[in-house]
Amino acid sequence: MSDAKVFTRRVKPDQAGVGEAARLLAEGHLVAFPTETVYGLGADATDARAVARLFAAKGRPAFNPLIAHVADVAAARRAGTLSPLAEKLVQFWPGPLTLVVPASDVICELARAGLSSVALRVPKHPVAQALLAAFGKPIAAPSANRSGHVSPTTAEHVLADLAGLVDLVVDAGPAPLGLESTIVDVSGATPRLLRSGGVPRADIERALGMKLAAAGDKVQAPGMLASHYATRARLRLDAQDVRPGEALLAFGAPRPAGAEGAAHTLDLSPRGDLVEAAANLFAHLRALDASGVAAIAVAPIPAEGLGEAINDRLERAATPR
Ligand code: TXA
Ligand code: MG
Repeated sequence: MSDAKVFTRRVKPDQAGVGEAARLLAEGHLVAFPTETVYGLGADATDARAVARLFAAKGRPAFNPLIAHVADVAAARRAGTLSPLAEKLVQFWPGPLTLVVPASDVICELARAGLSSVALRVPKHPVAQALLAAFGKPIAAPSANRSGHVSPTTAEHVLADLAGLVDLVVDAGPAPLGLESTIVDVSGATPRLLRSGGVPRADIERALGMKLAAAGDKVQAPGMLASHYATRARLRLDAQDVRPGEALLAFGAPRPAGAEGAAHTLDLSPRGDLVEAAANLFAHLRALDASGVAAIAVAPIPAEGLGEAINDRLERAATPR
């Protein structure tokens, strides 16, 4: 299926556009749609053939399980078993939190990559909500980029990676958060943080009344390969200076030494706001990478709040493939 070229249409997020997207999903086709985190590449999560097409378009190793997006907590309870720990976290739904729970047979095995657990999320974006309501079934959706690329925060990013591979893109402008969901494994007795993301760790630990354990040594979120999100340009993190020929990814003031000599500069947040920085992260990485520089100096980013997830993505992007 991967070589079956289609013409990718881009539609408005109105009733007609969302209705068209829901019809295509019901026919087993792929549609890209906005969520509050990043754009997703959606397929019917109950249809293994549709999910197979999705893996092909993504160029993703088939062992990598997908997040199933569901309309509400009731739909999540049909797709998996929410333990008392999981129930403490549904207060973050709709929103940028994904829970890994024991699966029922609603989500097809291929979407779960054969695992007995399933990753569930109730997205908050009104267009994602409208699409789930119109379609009436769970939507399996990884970030709408080719495997190993930076996640898309605009319809343009989606088209840059997937034009000709996806039937439709519902364009609702930039994704408000710009950073993927936090993934917490609540399938066992110990809650584990599999991926930092849009809900800060501290908020989750407060809701649980306990600390989150680390992912552990089994590769629980295989999509968290070290080289995920890699840019073509080399990234130099925590840069105290900007070296000749480098571009600068800044974070407010003060700027690193030699910043005025940077080949290109983009600022994640001139006022030093981590929420704004998260929203700009992937778009700025893409833009600086596209400028053709060999290396990008990245100013230090504080580790608190969304900073944990921002630093995590930067470290992955900096890992050579
Ligand atoms: O914000 C987001 O989460 C976006 C939007 C579109 O919702 N989606 C997203 O999906 O980032 P993706 O496929 O790029 O990342 C999903 C991650 C992967 O690392 C995958 O391995 C992990 O979730 N995952 C999925 N099911 C899992 C499971 N049963 N156990 C452990 N990890 C799982
Ligand atoms: Mg992804």
